[in-house]
Amino acid sequence: MSKPLNIGMIGYGFMGKAHSNAYRRVSNFFETEYKPVLKAICARNEEAAQKFADTWGYESVETDWRKMIARDDIDAVDICVPNNLHKEIAIACAEAGKMILCEKPIALNSEEGEEMCEAVEKAGVANMVWYNYRRVPAVTFAKQIIERGDLGRIFHYRANFLQDWTIAEDLPQGGAALWRLDVKAAGSGVTGDLLAHCIDTAIWLNGSIDNVTAMTETFVKERMHNETGKVEPVGIDDACAFLCRFGNGSMGLFESTRYARGHKALYTFEINGENGSLRWDLHDLNRLEYFNHGDEGTVRGWRTIHVTDGDHPYLGNWWVPGLCLGYEHSFVHQVADFLKGLETGEPAAPTFRDALETQRVCDAVLASAESGSWTDVG
Ligand SMILES: NC(=O)c1ccc[n+]([C@@H]2O[C@H](COP(=O)([O-])OP(=O)(O)OC[C@H]3O[C@@H](n4cnc5c(N)ncnc54)[C@H](O)[C@@H]3O)[C@@H](O)[C@H]2O)c1
Repeated sequence: MSKPLNIGMIGYGFMGKAHSNAYRRVSNFFETEYKPVLKAICARNEEAAQKFADTWGYESVETDWRKMIARDDIDAVDICVPNNLHKEIAIACAEAGKMILCEKPIALNSEEGEEMCEAVEKAGVANMVWYNYRRVPAVTFAKQIIERGDLGRIFHYRANFLQDWTIAEDLPQGGAALWRLDVKAAGSGVTGDLLAHCIDTAIWLNGSIDNVTAMTETFVKERMHNETGKVEPVGIDDACAFLCRFGNGSMGLFESTRYARGHKALYTFEINGENGSLRWDLHDLNRLEYFNHGDEGTVRGWRTIHVTDGDHPYLGNWWVPGLCLGYEHSFVHQVADFLKGLETGEPAAPTFRDALETQRVCDAVLASAESGSWTDVG
């Protein structure tokens, strides 16, 4: 007997669509006791929210998130709004006894994140943060290979997340779509937006990060602000590079920028161990590259595994071997795992507490860039 899980979504932008798609598809492909019901969409513009509701099949529309979370017919709230709103909404949801699925980064900084963790833990509500790249099957498969111990002792972890969409100096900051350039809404630039993904994956695959040394740059120092109409200083980091030490003794090297002309969303990582290495690239997300030093010498080399077999993570629920999945499936998998977590009582990761660890690394990176010294992750 399936149980409905009534979803109230706040925000109908990029992630609003990605998550709505996931809720709609998950029960077609994954057998779970709980089935998401698109109960309400909340956004400030009623007409636009109604259009979104009609497109995606939401039963109702709200224009005030407080009203939505007060509704008895909402079980879980999905927070898909800019980062500066996460804390207030999440704490209100926890106090109202709602489950929470919150977009990343968990908050503007780790102080806010800690308050959010305390609120959900006090209320005892299910919670999760959408670090969706963990659920790309090739990335989940990398985790399985590492957990089997096949790479042996780990020496290096490196990751990049490169984009090129903010190079134009006349691009404004703030408001719809461009809130990412406004430090008040975003908290930081590429560190919280892009490196947070790289850090979440890195911690998941390679364990905790102890300390960091970082540099950031803001290439365009002033931009017109869409909300004030005035030219204002830019407070975000346009680019960030950092080195780190992991708790397992390995070295980390991370870089992210929105100024790498030619790159739209080049997220790559590589991990090197004594017995082998793994490499993954978001632009070719179904493939995992694997070098196994144990292979016979004359044929030893990098192999490319097309992670589309029925035995690979999540793939048994989709098409026949060889047929590809895309970006959107990582969100379907995350919802499936969240629903399974409700069923089994084993919470799906990353929980708020897990995501706070990534936030602490982001904070240490920004503090190190400011001070110019090695900084411990608090
Ligand atoms: N997991 C990922 O890969 C990923 C990708 C993109 C964005 N994100 C995160 O998702 C969140 C949203 O990003 P996005 O790209 O969807 O942004 P977006 O600009 O596309 O959408 C933001 C939405 O929030 C709404 N909104 C803003 N203030 C509101 C308020 N007070 N009440 C109700 N609605 C309000 C806007 O109208 C818009 O619908 C951010 O935290 C971002 O970091 C995560």
